[in-house]
Amino acid sequence: MPEFIQLPETPSTHDELRARWRDAGGALPSGTAIVTDTQTKGRGRHGRSWIAPAGKTIALSVLVAAPDTDVARERFPWLTLAAGLALREVVRPLVPEDHSVTIKWPNDLLIDGRKSAGILAELLDPMPGKLAASVGIGLNVLLAEDELPVPHATSLALAGAELSDALIEELPTLITDALMNRVDRLVNAAWFPKNAGLLAELQEHCETVSQQVRASLPGGEVITGEAIAVLEDGRLELRLADGSRRALSAADVERVRP
Ligand code: BTN
Repeated sequence: MPEFIQLPETPSTHDELRARWRDAGGALPSGTAIVTDTQTKGRGRHGRSWIAPAGKTIALSVLVAAPDTDVARERFPWLTLAAGLALREVVRPLVPEDHSVTIKWPNDLLIDGRKSAGILAELLDPMPGKLAASVGIGLNVLLAEDELPVPHATSLALAGAELSDALIEELPTLITDALMNRVDRLVNAAWFPKNAGLLAELQEHCETVSQQVRASLPGGEVITGEAIAVLEDGRLELRLADGSRRALSAADVERVRP
């Protein structure tokens, strides 16, 4: 049975899970989770730090292990996208209906267009025949306006969610279960997100698709175009002004007005 490990404080749930995976020689079951509400050195995408005031957020890292195949490696970006869908499933019923809850490709959960959670999936040390990743989620739960670490952020509390202590305590389990449900479907569908129903779910809830966007690529290149689809391998496909198409695997994407 996967363990759910609650820590009062840790530098990074990702680093904690990575260390436990290494110490156990890979003998940890898929679905093992590390959770804390006080993460002191959280990491975000592209080497950024993930800042979270003590006791106000949830930091969660979930171990996903599956047989190592070429197709599983190619579909690895889907772990981030599946985590976004899992988060959305849990968060949607908590906030009043007049607030939108959407996914910004590839890794943000937005409430009314503001970032309420970020996701970072990292591969763990290879073990023979096994592909393992730590899927990390940072969710802003109780932050007040003056505690938001970056502009254009929000929290569940700011969006009007009614949050009892019992519900806050239950959130990491609900998110992990929703994530592992999607991971199991993906693995059972031989990592074809379309067959697992994830492509359609993402197409419905990913607000980036059909937007005019500016994408900043890791090498510094900036391109603009219309986001037209998320592909089977998790890349975002853009149609550029000259009609050509370009698929992005990593980028910071911002909406621009046409
Ligand atoms: C981002 O938006 O840049 C992604 C942020 C991911 C933060 C989470 S919190 C749990 C896990 N542990 C970390 O150190 N980072 C991720």
